[in-house]
Order: sequence, then C-alpha cells, then structure tokens
Amino acid sequence: MQNFELKTSRLILSRPTKNDLDDFVLHMNSCEDFSKNLFNIPFPYTRQDAENWFQKCDDGIESGESYRFAIREKEIGKLIGVIGLHLTKEHRKAELGYWLGKDFWGKGYLTEALKAVFEFGFNDLQLNKIYATHFIHNPASGRVMQKAGMEFEGLLKQEYFHQGKFLDVNRYAILKKDFESIS
Ligand SMILES: CC(C)(COP(=O)(O)OP(=O)(O)OC[C@H]1O[C@@H](n2cnc3c(N)ncnc32)[C@H](O)[C@@H]1OP(=O)(O)O)[C@@H](O)C(=O)NCCC(=O)NCCS
Repeated sequence: MQNFELKTSRLILSRPTKNDLDDFVLHMNSCEDFSKNLFNIPFPYTRQDAENWFQKCDDGIESGESYRFAIREKEIGKLIGVIGLHLTKEHRKAELGYWLGKDFWGKGYLTEALKAVFEFGFNDLQLNKIYATHFIHNPASGRVMQKAGMEFEGLLKQEYFHQGKFLDVNRYAILKKDFESIS
C-alpha cells in the first residue's frame, strides 16, 4: 500500500512527502509540548531531525510495519499534524501515535482524524485492536482518545524513561467489533 489517502469532512490524510519538511520543522519548534509528550522529538528540532523522521516514515510504509499520515486541511493542503499506526502483525494490532500543530488545537481535528484511521486500520489493514498511551501530564490526549471511542485499559506505572524520569502512562484501546458497533 504505497499511496494512501483518507478523507474526512474537513481533512485529508495522506502520505507525508519531502515538500512537507519545512512545515514539519516549524510545528516541532513552535513549543516544547512535542518533545515533552512524544518520543524522539528533540527541542529545538533541526531539518536533519525531520529528514531522519521522513526516512523512518518511508521505511515503515515500504516494509508495511507502520503507516504515518500527514494531516492536512482540505482547502489548504499543508501538513498540520501527523497520525500513525505501528503494527504488530502477528497479533493484528497497532499502536497509535499523533500530534497536531499548536495553531490547530481545540478544533476537534484529531478526533475526526482518528475515526478515519480506525476505519483504515480495521478495514484495509485487517487489524483487530488499536491502542495508544499518553503521559499522565498530558490529559488532553487522553480526552481525544475517549472522544474517539477508545476505552481505558489501565495505568502503566513508570512505563517509560523519558527526559530523565520514569513516567506513568494511561493506556486506551479500541477493538474492531466495538468500532463497528459505534460507526
Ligand atoms: C493532544 C493533541 C493532539 C490534542 O489536540 P486538540 O486539537 O486539542 O484535540 P481536540 O480539540 O480534539 O480535543 C482536546 C480535548 O482535550 C480537552 N483538554 C485540553 N486540555 C486539557 C487538560 N489540560 N485537561 C483535560 N482535558 C483537556 C479539551 O477540552 C478537549 O476536550 P472537549 O472537546 O471535550 O472539550 C494536541 O494537544 C497535541 O498535538 N499535543 C502535542 C503532541 C501530543 O501530545 N501528542 C499525543 C501524544 S500521546
């Protein structure tokens, strides 16, 4: 699946390209929330960091191990965020990751994008389960998961060593059967 595109009422989700590099760097440098809430995001964020990310993104798509989408507003088309699925094929499950540029927060875009990605994961990739975690210091992300229909699975204590500290995360998930019953 080399070229994929999903549409929602306000957004297009499509494969990130090298033309998106400048926007990617701009968003990552707009505030420290990205490095605090995500892995492998240094602050400040350089063009080389973004080039490495794009390479990983391409490798994941080529191998079928991960699918990352650029989130774009329909009319404008620029990258305003990223949403991705990282597969564990033998269990037909995937871990979800996402971010949205600061200027676009609070519009419900992420919740809209998540539903389209669930459809892609369950229908096109034949997944059975999609899950995600968020740091306790990032409750907005947990709220996004709840709004998209994911269920709380538990608190994982000191699950990750991040920025010099062991941090707790909340884990949420959605099963194919439950997604089908709400969509
Ligand atoms: C997490 C993120 C994607 C949310 O984007 P967003 O555009 O604000 O999301 P939405 O508008 O769809 O919803 C956010 C919800 O969280 C709520 N919220 C915001 N700040 C909150 C807080 N401090 N505590 C509790 N809820 C909060 C909002 O009120 C909203 O809920 P509502 O619609 O019921 O009012 C965005 O903040 C982001 O990209 N952050 C940096 C990267 C990141 O954290 N990625 C996720 C890693 S797990």
